[in-house]
Amino acid sequence: MAFTRKILGHGIGLRTKHFAQHLAARPPVDWVEVVSENFMAPGGRPVAVLEKVRRDVPVVLHGVSLSIGSTDPLSESYLGQLAELAGRIEPAWISDHLCWGSHGGRYAHDLWPLPYTEEAIRHVVARVEHVQEVLGRQILLENVSSYVAFRASEMEEWEFLAEVADRADCGILLDVNNVYVSARNHGFDPHAYLAAVPAARVGQIHLAGHSDKGRYLLDTHDHEVPAPVWDLYRETVLRLGPVSTLIEWDDNVPPLERLVEESRRATAIEAEALAPPFRRAVP
Ligand SMILES: [Fe+2]
Repeated sequence: MAFTRKILGHGIGLRTKHFAQHLAARPPVDWVEVVSENFMAPGGRPVAVLEKVRRDVPVVLHGVSLSIGSTDPLSESYLGQLAELAGRIEPAWISDHLCWGSHGGRYAHDLWPLPYTEEAIRHVVARVEHVQEVLGRQILLENVSSYVAFRASEMEEWEFLAEVADRADCGILLDVNNVYVSARNHGFDPHAYLAAVPAARVGQIHLAGHSDKGRYLLDTHDHEVPAPVWDLYRETVLRLGPVSTLIEWDDNVPPLERLVEESRRATAIEAEALAPPFRRAVP
């Protein structure tokens, strides 16, 4: 079983606020990520913009509704729509979250953590295998930020993530901000997390901002990437080498130029981290 990392460079999310600029000119970024569900309905302006952007740069489909960890049956109609979208857009890859967000057929529009157990690993792996069969390709699963934990957990989050990726033969979308947020909320060492992530499985990185609520950090994606997350990104690049990296800025979306600037900062940090003498695997 193997996973091949595609290196696209540094990208940004495609946001409605920037549609006109994307239509007017090629975006000054290496690639673009879109929320899959926003483009599943054929026709309309969003799809026209996406098709234009796809002619300009590589596109990645990032879903929020797969609910891979739920005990509900996987939605075959959702998978069908995702496969159809992928057929039209030919994305560089497709990703979603290692979480659950539905129960009894009702979707919560939230990304809840799973119990880190052998039973949950087997459950998720079987479902990832089915998804990959339907889509005819490997998917990437993202670590989510969390605020609660299950007493039933038998292992650390990073062990769970690594086991799922290995047994399902899928990739990992490593959200460095989520690692930082969850580390603070649960009191674990983010460096231990990064050290344990299987480098060969990581196909993409997310960077984002969060909000400090005092007793906990909230994953808000509503402002620039904070300094501690940039520090963790530098460490991640040193451990993994170059990885396609995306700035997630979903609320209080800034002007396109500011978003591009944030992406270029990631480019600069990666270049600086990997400049000779580059030694992988920091102590
Ligand atoms: Fe993310």
